[in-house]
Amino acid sequence: MTQAADAKPVGGGLCAGRVVAVTGAGRGLGRAHALAYAAEGAKVVVNDLGVGLDGTPAPDSPAAQVVAEIRASGGEAVAHGADIATSEGAASLVAAAVDTYGRLDTLVNNAGFLRDRMLVNLDEDDWDAVMRVHLKGHFLPLKHAAAYWRAQAKAGRTVTARVINTSSGAGLLGSVGQGNYSAAKAGILGLTLVAAAEMGRYGVQVNAIAPAARTRMTEATFADTMAAPRSGGFDAMAPENVSPLVVWLGSGAASDGVSGRVFEVEGGRITVMEGWRPGPTADKAERWTPSGAGETARELLARAAAPGGVYGAS
Ligand SMILES: NC(=O)c1ccc[n+]([C@@H]2O[C@H](COP(=O)([O-])OP(=O)(O)OC[C@H]3O[C@@H](n4cnc5c(N)ncnc54)[C@H](O)[C@@H]3O)[C@@H](O)[C@H]2O)c1
Repeated sequence: MTQAADAKPVGGGLCAGRVVAVTGAGRGLGRAHALAYAAEGAKVVVNDLGVGLDGTPAPDSPAAQVVAEIRASGGEAVAHGADIATSEGAASLVAAAVDTYGRLDTLVNNAGFLRDRMLVNLDEDDWDAVMRVHLKGHFLPLKHAAAYWRAQAKAGRTVTARVINTSSGAGLLGSVGQGNYSAAKAGILGLTLVAAAEMGRYGVQVNAIAPAARTRMTEATFADTMAAPRSGGFDAMAPENVSPLVVWLGSGAASDGVSGRVFEVEGGRITVMEGWRPGPTADKAERWTPSGAGETARELLARAAAPGGVYGAS
């Protein structure tokens, strides 16, 4: 049994009274988040389309299983099986929360899959599918939830809404063999900043995480470093390690402007990622010649911090 499955729902938990929708919550990180929210008293909409590792249709429906686990622990949850990268699916996710529990307080955008190839072999289909599920699959639920919260705020209700988006180290630094995924996950960071800036006035806080954990998505890639400990000890790569920060970010406790931020979360470590900011600069208040621009660029680069390494680069 996992840590989250062991946990008992707490009547007065951090998320008591809140309604939380988690996309791609049938397995992996999303499942751990759903169980962790339920353990803190939230009512959870467990979304999962149930697709294979590369996004192709799969026969199983893991959302119902997670709902059964939450209910078996005394929590409240409902399954939602639509594709969140469609407008109908995203709208019906918000509707499922409102129709079933009367409200939506927190959205966790998490669903996704991989189509890894080096750029020269990356088909247009692989590009489109990964951009669609991650970037559009974040935008559409966010858009529909944001419209709901704005309407609540305009009707005079107090909104304490939270969104947690799921980026990746690939989006922060780049990852060899993952040009499509890195671009989509970097796009999610830009979307997070804009959503935080636009929605703050309506009581909506929007943050992103870049997690690392052993799931079906990563177990083949990181088999050697991600093995579970043989007996006892801290399983640093368990998906359940990522969920406590996600639960806090999705709760009313994450108040006072915790918004537009990005956190790396892995094992017992939480890191605030600091974004692009100006480094060394030169301004001669007139147009450069190409060779003058080049000479200045070299001088500036010599004074600039070295960029973080791209994952998988030699
Ligand atoms: N595991 C890691 O180390 C890691 C690292 C960085 C980022 N992430 C991100 O975390 C998120 C969760 O990944 P995971 O490792 O738990 O993977 P996972 O494959 O275990 O879970 C993803 C779930 O999303 C569902 N899904 C896929 N497309 C969907 C759609 N269109 N609509 C609804 N559900 C859909 C799948 O059926 C699956 O159950 C992903 O966005 C992933 O990119 C994971």
